[in-house]
Amino acid sequence: MKNLGILISGRGSNFEAIAKSVAAGEIAARISIVISNREGARGLDRAREMGLNALCLPSQDKPRDSFENELCAALDNAAVDFICLAGFMRVLSPGVTRRYPQRILNIHPSLLPAFPGADAQRQALEHGVKLSGCTVHLVDEGVDNGPIVLQAAVPVLDDDTVETLSARILAQEHQLYPQAVRLLVEDRIRVESRRVFLKQ
Ligand code: GRF
Repeated sequence: MKNLGILISGRGSNFEAIAKSVAAGEIAARISIVISNREGARGLDRAREMGLNALCLPSQDKPRDSFENELCAALDNAAVDFICLAGFMRVLSPGVTRRYPQRILNIHPSLLPAFPGADAQRQALEHGVKLSGCTVHLVDEGVDNGPIVLQAAVPVLDDDTVETLSARILAQEHQLYPQAVRLLVEDRIRVESRRVFLKQ
């Protein structure tokens, strides 16, 4: 059984979608640790309610090195095989990403490479695109940059606000992220340069 580590910073709805899929037996893994870098993250309360190993490691006012050392120690201690960034609002330094090559996933609320970084849904609205969506990708040293595993598109409607567009995208995120985690856990992802191919 593979071990998953989930990193969050807030609401944690993607973490919950993954946890639901694990509980339903769709992902052959267990969640061995949920870590939030922010205190009071709702996702951390939910993880505790589910009886999961939930840890708060505040990153604020801490040198990056010390935070990341603590983070890696906690992940190692929980013997994680794979890491899912689920609304984790910190960029991991190359020291961390190189430690887990092709073993970290992230979800981003846009069709990458469009609109990386913060406020992706607002960027999409302001740019005037007619389609947006979400992307699950492997994490490398760049921000929202690694090889793309899965994407889902949603329409941008004339009367959309950031809130309505975000909600439409989020519904897709909750479908997409567990599927991508399953592919990774089942070793069905093959990466060639930037391209991801799914093994049968
Ligand atoms: C999601 O929109 C995700 O794509 C982005 O941050 C948000 C996290 O939401 N990276 P939640 O904490 O999973 O509810």
